[in-house]
Amino acid sequence: MFNAETITNVANAAYVVAALLFILALAGLSKHETSKAGNAFGMAGMGVALIATIVLAINNKIEPLGLALLVGAMAVGAAIGLWRARVVEMTGMPELIALLHSFVGLAAVLVGWSGYLHAEFDPNSQGALELAKEGMLGIHSAEVFIGVFIGAVTFTGSIVANLKLSAKISSSPLMLPGKNFLNVGSLVLFVALTVWFVISPNLWLLVGVTALALLLGWHLVASIGGGDMPVVVSMLNSYSGWAAAASGFLLSNDLLIITGALVGSSGAYLSYIMCKAMNRSFISVIAGGFGIEAGPAEDKDYGEHREITAEGAAELLGSADSVIITPGYGMAVAQAQYGVADLTRKLREKGVNVRFGIHPVAGRLPGHMNVLLAEAKVPYDIVLEMDEINDDFDDTAVVLVIGANDTVNPAASEDPSSPIAGMPVLTVWNAENVIVFKRSMASGYAGVQNPLFFRDNTQMLFGDARDRVNDILAAL
Ligand code: TAP
Repeated sequence: MFNAETITNVANAAYVVAALLFILALAGLSKHETSKAGNAFGMAGMGVALIATIVLAINNKIEPLGLALLVGAMAVGAAIGLWRARVVEMTGMPELIALLHSFVGLAAVLVGWSGYLHAEFDPNSQGALELAKEGMLGIHSAEVFIGVFIGAVTFTGSIVANLKLSAKISSSPLMLPGKNFLNVGSLVLFVALTVWFVISPNLWLLVGVTALALLLGWHLVASIGGGDMPVVVSMLNSYSGWAAAASGFLLSNDLLIITGALVGSSGAYLSYIMCKAMNRSFISVIAGGFGIEAGPAEDKDYGEHREITAEGAAELLGSADSVIITPGYGMAVAQAQYGVADLTRKLREKGVNVRFGIHPVAGRLPGHMNVLLAEAKVPYDIVLEMDEINDDFDDTAVVLVIGANDTVNPAASEDPSSPIAGMPVLTVWNAENVIVFKRSMASGYAGVQNPLFFRDNTQMLFGDARDRVNDILAAL
């Protein structure tokens, strides 16, 4: 009924529809209220893209074995993806995302290698002769080389990010002597090798650049300290987009080019916004902590801390007129958001002005706290961003720091030698009373001690945040 040309045209039109759906997905995901619709657009776009790709493959007379492998791989991938998505905890999302980026990187390396072996390795092969006839050999070689390089950097970089985020390796920055020289030197070497490869493609150069990029990816991310990991994850997201775009050029797949460019540019922009929010130099972070040197080992004596009981906290809250709650990663671990929402409701019923202060990198992924609070039905209008609420702590009777640590650390603004120096923080210490919910005196994600815990107006409420919030509710 349809001839091959019509099918190709319809499939290409479907690619344009998929690209539009991806753009709608990004637009939807940029706002809380429309994020669900954004996700739905993204899923629909991916569904259209997959169907169009299979139809195109059949139309191009894919061999039965190839088709069986394609469908089999998709079934296995879908089953694993569905299972992981079902079991992953919200707190485990960043490391899962980092792992997924590593797959994109690996895929780009494999596409690059197969592009080389298929069309360039044997200069007398049909692919090589065709490329030579069209005068495209040099461009093809550059696409192979650049795609493999970006893919391999993304691959090992994402694995290190996954290991750091899941605490399987230390989150402190690796400080090899001459680390900046290693990074810049690798880039210069890559440019030189690319020129060489374009002039005379050969297998050993491709082996060399693959090894160089694998080592560079590892070193780049290993050199970045825990506090900057959120930026690293979004930067790797961007790299994975560029790697996919490079594969798109090699495979002459327009949708892959568009999607890769969307992911690449939006990831880069997100990294930039996060760097600005954390007062970090964008260039320094993407260049593997360029210019950041290790601070002196911390061995400061901050004195004694004070403790409070849940009943004591309930008493303070009962007599307060204004309360600000600053949640952090510990609230997510304890799943305390429901108790916190109940506490908020109860205090508001008593006429207390309760608001939330959200740090841009509280928790382990952008918007982490907002999602948890929305899940527990805390009204949006009392959930404020750091910049909106930071001046109000002076007039606040009680601040509840629930499982937050780095994001409320005064050392960031007061101690220039601190590893998190310069990062904007919630100035909770300006309030009359601060109650810190955590299980021990352990440090937060960045691994630095928090002088807030030793201030005169701070009291520690030890234990699991959910249990302690419930105790306060009972006492109220
Ligand atoms: P953190 O500095 O990570 O501190 C969380 C605190 O929660 C810990 O000190 C821990 O102390 C406490 N805690 C853990 N489980 C708890 C439980 N069940 N009950 C009570 N307390 C518990 O948190 P933060 O202030 O949200 O800062 C986030 C950090 O993560 C920043 O350094 C940020 O750069 C980094 N990071 C952020 C992201 C994004 S995008 N948001 C991504 C990756 C990394 P105890 O062990 O003593 O209980």
